[in-house]
Amino acid sequence: MTHRILILGGTTEARQLSRLLGEDGRYDVTLSLAGRTRAPAAHAVPVRVGGFGGAEGLAGYLREYRTDILVDATHPFAARISGNAAVAAALAGVPLLVLRRPEWRPVEGDRWIEVDGVAQAVAALGTEPRGVFVALGRQELAPLEAAPWHRYVIRSVDPVEPPLALPAATYLLARGPFGLDDELALFERHRVEAVLAKNSGGEATYSKLEASRKLGIEVFLVRRPALPEVASAATPVEAMTMVSHLAVSLAKRGV
Ligand SMILES: NC(=O)c1ccc[n+]([C@@H]2O[C@H](COP(=O)([O-])OP(=O)(O)OC[C@H]3O[C@@H](n4cnc5c(N)ncnc54)[C@H](OP(=O)(O)O)[C@@H]3O)[C@@H](O)[C@H]2O)c1
Repeated sequence: MTHRILILGGTTEARQLSRLLGEDGRYDVTLSLAGRTRAPAAHAVPVRVGGFGGAEGLAGYLREYRTDILVDATHPFAARISGNAAVAAALAGVPLLVLRRPEWRPVEGDRWIEVDGVAQAVAALGTEPRGVFVALGRQELAPLEAAPWHRYVIRSVDPVEPPLALPAATYLLARGPFGLDDELALFERHRVEAVLAKNSGGEATYSKLEASRKLGIEVFLVRRPALPEVASAATPVEAMTMVSHLAVSLAKRGV
């Protein structure tokens, strides 16, 4: 008996989990992407792209495709889809599990200023001009325009179009993972004096925090939004184990 699994993705971990589950003959896996990235990474399982039309729309999809298990493996800052997933799973009576990377915690030597959003981070940068490395999504950058006196180095996966109304902004296009030596070289080359980032967690982009620690640079780190309390795995392998336990109990119930 195969179990139908829908993975809400858009993260490296979702891609890894979809590969693990896809290789296991017990599962029929579909991965869902919002469609934000122009050239998403290749996936080993069928992919559907675009919103569902809120929690009701997602519940309708789960029913229509007779989904047995929903996995929310979206980014920890994608709070709307995670909220929708919890509601839709309850509406459709489908078990939900979450794959979410643990958040980063400060260690000795870190100089973090934790804030609730990008606008607060920009305000906290202060009125003295600084060289600021910005690691945010291209749709999150508008608040930078409130502090045009800083010199920004902005790294994103897709181009920032149109460019921001800022007199000193350098745009870098790159997709992680990023190595520590490369981050150190980048920060020195661009004379970075502060870093603005989100507490995304995971290994692929942690090196900017390590580089900041080594260079004594302040990090303005946006805290995670509130997310639904759901059974969670921290890694794709852990999520795979949870899925297989769920599948066994569904099979016992004849689902
Ligand atoms: N936010 C970040 O920092 C971040 C970083 C890296 C990757 N991502 C990925 O980028 C995507 C969008 O993130 P976001 O912050 O814009 O999300 P969001 O604000 O939580 O979601 C906005 C809407 O986008 C649609 N959506 C989001 N994720 C989807 C998915 N995996 N499949 C189908 N529809 C989805 C849903 O539309 P409907 O209501 O119409 O269903 C949702 O209501 C997510 O897949 C997330 O994992 C986000």
